[in-house]
Amino acid sequence: MAQVKSKDRATSSKAARAKVLAQVKAEKIESILLWFTDIEGHLKSFAITPSELADALDDGMGFDGSSVTGFNAIEESDMVAIPDPTTFRLMPWRAGETKVGRMICDVVTPDGKPYDGDPRFVLRRALERMQSMGFDTFNIGPELEYFLFKDNKGTETLDEGGYFAMTTLDAATELRNETIKALEGMGVAIEYSHHEVAPSQHEIDMRYAPALEMADRTITYRLIVKEIAAKNGVYATFMPKPIFGENGSGMHVHMSLFKDGRNSFFDAKDKYNLSPVGKAFIAGQLKHAREMSSVFAQWVNSYKRLVPGYEAPVYVAWSRRNRSALVRIPLYKPGAEQATRAEIRCPDPSCNPYLTFATLLHAGLEGIEKGYKLEDPMETNLYHLTETERKKLGIIELPGSLGEAIEETAKSALVKKALGQHVFDHYIALKRAEWNDYRLQVTQWELDRYLKVL
Ligand SMILES: Nc1ncnc2c1ncn2[C@@H]1O[C@H](COP(=O)(O)OP(=O)(O)OP(=O)(O)O)[C@@H](O)[C@H]1O
Ligand SMILES: [Mg+2]
Repeated sequence: MAQVKSKDRATSSKAARAKVLAQVKAEKIESILLWFTDIEGHLKSFAITPSELADALDDGMGFDGSSVTGFNAIEESDMVAIPDPTTFRLMPWRAGETKVGRMICDVVTPDGKPYDGDPRFVLRRALERMQSMGFDTFNIGPELEYFLFKDNKGTETLDEGGYFAMTTLDAATELRNETIKALEGMGVAIEYSHHEVAPSQHEIDMRYAPALEMADRTITYRLIVKEIAAKNGVYATFMPKPIFGENGSGMHVHMSLFKDGRNSFFDAKDKYNLSPVGKAFIAGQLKHAREMSSVFAQWVNSYKRLVPGYEAPVYVAWSRRNRSALVRIPLYKPGAEQATRAEIRCPDPSCNPYLTFATLLHAGLEGIEKGYKLEDPMETNLYHLTETERKKLGIIELPGSLGEAIEETAKSALVKKALGQHVFDHYIALKRAEWNDYRLQVTQWELDRYLKVL
């Protein structure tokens, strides 16, 4: 193993580190959680004591990477988590409970180099490409939907409400408010919240933020929603399609590129108020949509949501206002520069946000770099078109299953570039194994349909 130049592997500013040390002392914080994610976006966390904090900030904390999905095998499993002091937050707590802080980490190898298998590094690399093309910010506003059930043993709903339902002042409204307070307590700005279309389905909308910050907020959002639900004796899930016949949970992602505080997607003179950069970005996402699918919809269950109907976007087209298209240009504030954005509607809230935001960015940048042409918008309801009509219009569909999606990704030079060789290879192997495992199952549907007649 290479000689370790230890004691200062951190790349964060000394001032930021000192600020965290001072806050931990002043607020008498007794434990600090260090977070990172595995390749599928599952949150990994370990706690350190305040006495370990200064060293951890300067030089990171070692951990065994071989038990983290997608990280290195046992023979080279020594990894180091370096906390990013800018992500220091106080976890929501109640009087009398232990005061706990939290930082999100970058994972490096013992020689201090960024680890190729670290999803946060994958996103950092995509942002470097964006900066090399002259943009300075990739703004993201994700809308995560989720279900609240009685427990994690079944899908017993807590209410029969629908979109914007003002059901009687029930647990869910209180729960949403308590969740919003906890999120704002952790520095996650919230715009609004409402009941969604399906029974017991909810949405809390975060205000947009730069991509790395928003990926950190997305994993925080998922944990806090689940924690507050558990504290109130119910179960929150981001499973894309838990109930047959009801809408699934999506994660529409609103995106824009900024440069020197100006929205590079905006063009006041264009009939769609979209600049050539904005159009090429959208063209890049549409061109690579099928290839990216296994990243923004990574589970077998994700494709039970991505089926025609149920408002789920499966047709690769763009449009203004039209919610049946894959990419929509919201038109609430026509001509408003700051609010000009593109919304991609196919991701689901159980994706790995670091890998998803990185891949979406690369696809957009590819469109700009290679000057992809954007076809005309599809203003008609794509769900009402017949298959023949869609074919004539050249509208293709997203993959219909994880099996199909992962084989599209396996052929994709763009996704390989986005994820990097290490993550790409591990991801393909992991998802192929998941699909094969599913494919082998004899499902209740088959038994109900075949057993009595065959
Ligand atoms: N310039 C921008 N770049 C990226 N995101 C933005 C920008 N301006 C606003 N947003 C974000 O876009 C999201 C808009 O969410 P909003 O709920 O209005 O979308 P919607 O798609 O119209 O709603 P729904 O899908 O529920 O009908 C918010 O997260 C907001 O912060
Ligand atoms: Mg939306």
